Amino acid sequence: MSNYSIKSLEQYFRVYRRSVEKPKKFWGEIAENNFTWFQKWDKVIEFDMQKASFTWFRNAKLNITKNCIDRHLASNGDKNAIIFEPNNPGEAPRYYTYNQLYVEVSKMANLLREQGIEKGDRVCIYLPMIPELAFSMLACARIGAIHSVVFAGFSANALSTRINDSTCKMLITSDGGFRGSKTIDLKKIADEALDNSPTIKKVLVVNRTGQEVTMREGRDYWLQPLLDNASATSQAEVMDAEDPLFILYTSGSTGKPKGMLHTNAGYMVYTAYTFKNIFHYRSDDIYWCTADIGWITGHSYILYGPLLNGSTTVIFEGTPSYPSYSRFWEVIQKHKVSQFYTSPTAIRSLAKEKIEYVQGFTLDSLKVIGSVGEPINEEAWHWYNDHVGNKKCPLVDTWWQTETGGILISAIPFVTPTKPTYASLPFPGIKPVLMDDLRNEIKENQKSGNLCIEYPWPAIARTIWGDHQRYIDTYFTKFPGKYFTGDGALRDEVGYYRITGRVDDVIIVSGHNMGTAPIEDVINEHQFVAESAIVGYPHDIKGNALYGFVVLKETGLWRDRNNLIKEINQLITDQIGPIAKLDKIQFVTGLPKTRSGKIMRRILRIIAEGEESDFGDITTLVDPEIVEEIRREKV
Ligand code: WT7
Repeated sequence: MSNYSIKSLEQYFRVYRRSVEKPKKFWGEIAENNFTWFQKWDKVIEFDMQKASFTWFRNAKLNITKNCIDRHLASNGDKNAIIFEPNNPGEAPRYYTYNQLYVEVSKMANLLREQGIEKGDRVCIYLPMIPELAFSMLACARIGAIHSVVFAGFSANALSTRINDSTCKMLITSDGGFRGSKTIDLKKIADEALDNSPTIKKVLVVNRTGQEVTMREGRDYWLQPLLDNASATSQAEVMDAEDPLFILYTSGSTGKPKGMLHTNAGYMVYTAYTFKNIFHYRSDDIYWCTADIGWITGHSYILYGPLLNGSTTVIFEGTPSYPSYSRFWEVIQKHKVSQFYTSPTAIRSLAKEKIEYVQGFTLDSLKVIGSVGEPINEEAWHWYNDHVGNKKCPLVDTWWQTETGGILISAIPFVTPTKPTYASLPFPGIKPVLMDDLRNEIKENQKSGNLCIEYPWPAIARTIWGDHQRYIDTYFTKFPGKYFTGDGALRDEVGYYRITGRVDDVIIVSGHNMGTAPIEDVINEHQFVAESAIVGYPHDIKGNALYGFVVLKETGLWRDRNNLIKEINQLITDQIGPIAKLDKIQFVTGLPKTRSGKIMRRILRIIAEGEESDFGDITTLVDPEIVEEIRREKV
């Protein structure tokens, strides 16, 4: 029990040393003492980095929902598990105790079984941030179905691609969703997706907005009437430690989205342990993470991590700016939130508004504040620390990825001294290393390099659904024997890590992972477009924004540039979603390419960033003149 909660820096160093020197013993003890198992493991870990093969807690049997719900019932059945804060300020919050959560999840689990969902089947969930989203995920986990949550901001095409990639049998969606002053027509978008997704046999529809929808007979069912008839108790499926728990898609620098697969036991142990320590969770706390459950942050730190620790977790349907820029602070005051976890983009967007929006709210309940998804710049760090944390709450800058399942580098509040813009020290069990481009390890401090992780941790993704070779190629090949994160990092004189950003063609926009290739593919579908290249450039609020360089087919066919820009962005909205829209589009006559045909993005990045700096050696370009032309016509 003792090492489950780390209370001092000395203890952290002790625990950390043990965790890397004797990882089997260390993780075995954490798993043994803090969870409910049907059967224990015969081996803590077996792995092969080259083959990207990881078996944690071999042959153990469990059900993660027993750990999230059932085991809290005797002691904490009447405690709130979920507080739902609706988008519309006129609508009252809803509270679900652990007892009620058990009933909701049981009904849903029974219903899924009745509808023919079996262990191993994939269920796609396309819902707004409402409690039914949490119930659906937990119901899947309870019966051993694999959930694949698709963020409700994605388009029909993006939804359909994801459904088809993992051949989902069922879709759970809603009539619509509230978001700020708008509603999103989720069922309508889903209908369009389903035209191209024949594997979906049944659609369960939550009534959220009450708007009119089309229901296809024999396929689409309103959820509530079915739930009314479902039994309120349920048996939890016995799952093997390595049985899949969920698939979550993340965009890569090339090709179609990657369905990252996470499995039961390792994910459970790691998200629970990190949540407990990194958010300093204590029994009466109210924890709030503002991310969407459609991203990994929501999976691990709205749902699983908090519930595994018997916490009260807030599910917020709305946005930071509706009905005013005070919304976050109002919610913190109303629910007496103790831990607040959000993104640098949200902080920057609120920091640019009048300070009165935050002043005047009682944020005294806060103990810990956190940041995730992208580097937090110094200015945003201080604003967050001064005006939200009131200089008394440790600010944890948590670095991790969809692939890592849980936080790998972060301070532990009241334990690790924080340093602005530094994620700081590795969590127990995590061995970060910096590698230079020649694949040598950088041993000295105060140097930057490619961030790799040397030893597996329990929540590492197990594969890319349907494409293990791509998993090996993307993460385990460039630096043999190590997991390559795709991020660059700097290590300071005391060993703190600062994440400096992506070193590949992924751009982090508002904390969302955007691969350039998938967006370029969409732009290239436009009838007048010959080719395109996208790079990121610094943006005051979003961290990075997207700049597209577009080569048109023949001049003369098109006339109105503004119209063309609109059409390109509409195409992106339709195919991927509004989050992938370009902030700037520049029409160019050619792209800087090497003789082998590779676009030199480095050059485009320098132009997009508006830097005056030298381009370096551009003699390998087919047409070096194009560079000055592009720079001259920068938008
Ligand atoms: C990428 C992963 C992890 C949940 C949300 C994003 C960037 C994430 C930080 C941080 C600097 C960060 C990295 C990473 N990132 N957290 N604290 N400081 N950068 O998950 O969509 O899988 O994106 O987000 O570049 O590789 P994701």
